Amino acid sequence: MALGHSVELPDQHVACTLQVALQRDLGGGDHAASLSRWRNPVTWVPDDGLVDGIERVRELAVGADEGASPWWYEQLYAEARVGASRVPWDHGEPTPYLVAWLRERFPSGRGSGRAVVVGCAYGDDAELVASYGFAVTAFDISASAVETARSRHPASAVDYRQADLLGLPEDWRGAFDLVVECTTLQSTPVALHERGAVSVASLCAVDGKILVIARCPADGDPPGPPWLLSEREVWQVAAGGVRLSSLQRISMRGGDRWVGEFVCA
Ligand SMILES: C[S@@+](CC[C@H](N)C(=O)[O-])C[C@H]1O[C@@H](n2cnc3c(N)ncnc32)[C@H](O)[C@@H]1O
Repeated sequence: MALGHSVELPDQHVACTLQVALQRDLGGGDHAASLSRWRNPVTWVPDDGLVDGIERVRELAVGADEGASPWWYEQLYAEARVGASRVPWDHGEPTPYLVAWLRERFPSGRGSGRAVVVGCAYGDDAELVASYGFAVTAFDISASAVETARSRHPASAVDYRQADLLGLPEDWRGAFDLVVECTTLQSTPVALHERGAVSVASLCAVDGKILVIARCPADGDPPGPPWLLSEREVWQVAAGGVRLSSLQRISMRGGDRWVGEFVCA
């Protein structure tokens, strides 16, 4: 298991360098070959990860750290639909770490089976996973986010659903060969992290994989949201038959990232 691996990424080369970092950690191929597979480089640099709009998120979240289920996300997305707020994590592109991971894990560009994208927002990650051939279910607690995802991707094969990670449909238990969790756990108050992690784990089928991407906490962070995950909290996804197979800490100006891969036995 690769654990605690740390790679310094210069901002301007983050996309390519990230792929090299992942390639190194996963132990395969040479770097030149790895870079040549970077066919569609991302155009935004996930520097601090949160741009305009975080202040409104913080206003809406007042009191949420008491442990309440964060239904206030619906308010943010409803405001965004009428142009009254901005969704700070909407970059109009998939998450770079997910782009890199899929390329490494599925170099042929094809995967198979069922995948689920947790906290899918406007669906960019879900559409990317679907492009690999997975049958994708993507869910968000916000009905407005789900409606906007459907309208942004009208020809999509992704099954977009409104659902709460903390109260999932029973028939999703153990149903997915690939589970993608990107910054949803950190969007829930700390008191809910363990329940959320166990819930993420519950989605995974035997022999399936879970990818967890989250921002690492740092000294001087303001109070949440986001409520960033400690390494111990990332490990909490190893619940039931799920075990951690690799965990990287990727160093970046503006906030390190956890990239964890889990397998379900
Ligand atoms: C920080 S955003 C990340 C969105 C997307 N995964 C990304 O990486 O760009 C967190 C998302 O999780 C959703 N969310 C928060 N709590 C949730 C819950 N309990 N169940 C499902 N979705 C939730 C929010 O509505 C929001 O869209």
